[in-house]
Amino acid sequence: MPNIFFPRETRAGETRVAVTPEVAQRLKKDGFSVRVEKGAGEGSRIADAAYEKAGASVVDAAAGYDGADIVAKLHPPDDADIDKLGEGSLLIAHIWPFAHKERCERLMARKLTVFAMDQIPRTTKAQYMDALSSQMNLAGYKAVLMAAERLPKVVPLMMTAAGTINPAKVVIMGAGVAGLQAIGTAKRLGAVVEATDVRPEVKEQVQSLGAKFIEPPGTAVGEGGYAKEQSAEFLEKQKETVKKHLVAADIIITTAKIPGRKAPLLVSEEVVKEMRPGSVIVDLAAEEGGNCEVTVPDQVVERHGVTIIGVANIPGTVPVDASALYAKNIQNVLKQLYPKDAKLALDFDDAINDGAIVLHAGACRSPKLAEAHGFAAPTKDAAEAEPAAKAKD
Ligand code: NAI
Repeated sequence: MPNIFFPRETRAGETRVAVTPEVAQRLKKDGFSVRVEKGAGEGSRIADAAYEKAGASVVDAAAGYDGADIVAKLHPPDDADIDKLGEGSLLIAHIWPFAHKERCERLMARKLTVFAMDQIPRTTKAQYMDALSSQMNLAGYKAVLMAAERLPKVVPLMMTAAGTINPAKVVIMGAGVAGLQAIGTAKRLGAVVEATDVRPEVKEQVQSLGAKFIEPPGTAVGEGGYAKEQSAEFLEKQKETVKKHLVAADIIITTAKIPGRKAPLLVSEEVVKEMRPGSVIVDLAAEEGGNCEVTVPDQVVERHGVTIIGVANIPGTVPVDASALYAKNIQNVLKQLYPKDAKLALDFDDAINDGAIVLHAGACRSPKLAEAHGFAAPTKDAAEAEPAAKAKD
């Protein structure tokens, strides 16, 4: 019976956890032995006793890592944690391998099989495992509430005996997962919503949610459904096109990102100066460099009378749901890797495994990652090596 350990997340301020009692119980039923680190669920309001009731063992970190076949968590393990992972075991977590060469080298040295949650292909088939989507959905929702809470006016149209209140104007920059959810949430609050994106297929999605689409100066479609980096000239033109919409907005939510690159700068300080005092900007790209020129990562600041929210980890402000969704994503990954009787079946012909399992048996499996970091190019032998993370009977 493979045993799986869910450590407590140690990143400062993190409230989420990679397993809930419901998922622990399901995994037990599916034939896994489940260990959870003491206090792991505290930030998500889950008591150790709830995990125990679900059939998991609540243990300290040393006992959890000891002999674990699988370690599943949210954030990448730090160096000390990597050293605790059993040689050849399976790690499921966010890895951000393209930005962290040394982390990859350390993981390869331990001959781990690494399923990177951040490298799951963004396809419909993979959606039930897709943590970027599950977490960004919540971020899009919460961003609107955070803005509404700070806005010195109400959001919906109100017709009262004392007069009519005009609805708030909300502009969403970037209509991916977070942006589309933000549109829906702002509409439900009664705002007049406009949105823009550089991927053309988004227009219809924006309109179907009842928002107006602001045409960008062109399209910029990259690989894997993502946007590609835009030229300085493109971004200048875009700033011109969207300026009149931005300065008229009460709330701007920016979500525009390019994988592996700094987020595009879409809201200049000039625009912030021209916005009405009291307006609010929520910059969901704050950690990637920010879409707004005056964003301060992980802080709420006021500039020229406008509040700019650069809070990182917005999903962590709704940990009950964020953890429940992430734990489900993990459960689905395990179902994919251990399809029957808790037996590992690593099928690299499967597009999801092929995309997400970036490291395996001491080698890099991804040609792109190998090229990016100068690792040995993947060979068929390496890809088909005896599964490192062997399920024990
Ligand atoms: P993301 O977080 O990388 O970027 C957010 C949005 O910003 C994207 O829509 C992007 O096009 C946009 N953007 C980039 N530069 C911009 C600019 N200068 N101005 C305006 N917008 C700009 O993207 P996210 O939300 O992670 O989605 C990535 C892709 O994955 C999308 O194509 C999405 O539809 C797709 N996806 C598909 C799923 C499926 O089931 N088929 C599930 C989840 C995501």
